[in-house]
Amino acid sequence: MAKIVSFSIYKGGTGKTTSAVNTAAALAEMGKRVLLVDLDQQAQTTRYLGLDPDTMPMNLAQVFIQGVPINLTVKKTDFGFDLVPASDLLSAVEAMLESGKDEGLLREKLDAIEADYDFVLLDTPPGKDKLTFNAIVAARQIIVPVSAERMAVDGLADLIKHLHTVLWPKYELDQDIRILFTKYDATTSLSPGIVKSARKIYRENVLPMLIHSAVAFPRSYEARKPMIHFAPSHQGTQAYRELAAWLAQ
Ligand SMILES: Nc1ncnc2c1ncn2[C@@H]1O[C@H](COP(=O)(O)OP(=O)(O)OP(=O)(O)O)[C@@H](O)[C@H]1O
Ligand SMILES: [Mg+2]
Repeated sequence: MAKIVSFSIYKGGTGKTTSAVNTAAALAEMGKRVLLVDLDQQAQTTRYLGLDPDTMPMNLAQVFIQGVPINLTVKKTDFGFDLVPASDLLSAVEAMLESGKDEGLLREKLDAIEADYDFVLLDTPPGKDKLTFNAIVAARQIIVPVSAERMAVDGLADLIKHLHTVLWPKYELDQDIRILFTKYDATTSLSPGIVKSARKIYRENVLPMLIHSAVAFPRSYEARKPMIHFAPSHQGTQAYRELAAWLAQ
């Protein structure tokens, strides 16, 4: 059965998509069978992989709206792993889902496909979306990409509080949460200070690898290629290989 990993934090722009895509590529490089699911109506994961969300015959929205089996929406990427694409139709799914009732739907839908993969990675949208809650409920492991800046660390506290007070009691969950610092800037004392204080609070839940801030990341998005294919020996690529190895251990 696949290990289901959600890349989630309610704050926007912290590196969820970048981390999900590059971890998927690194796991595939290790020979793992990987499915990446794009749950964000912005469809940036889909675009990052060189696919146009408007021309995909099927996407995740049809799974929720029409009950299409999820395996029929899977698209092979050029990078050795599979994708369930997103589209802006996911906004209709968001409107359709009932709060407090439908958070377990994705979990059920993934049942049909779990045996085909070693890893299912879920890229979630920003905000307290019902689709994000669906991903969190489906996941066994939660990776929280946090940019190494004060505002994002406040967002981390918000997520952890919401898990403890809302989602975990309701769905009887208690998943492993690991914090992944992204956009780390070693040239000032700001990022090092933030990581140090987070390690004091969250201890071993802060992952040892740091994703440094690097222009290669937005460039790899522009090039529509994960870092492993765009800049194979870049420090950032190596850091995502370390995350993949940690997940696979
Ligand atoms: N380590 C990094 N260094 C520099 N830029 C980065 C890094 N990681 C991500 N970025 C850039 O930051 C922006 C936001 O990243 P990304 O889209 O991965 O965040 P996100 O959390 O998925 O955002 P959203 O909440 O909108 O879905 C993108 O332009 C991306 O290329
Ligand atoms: Mg994103």
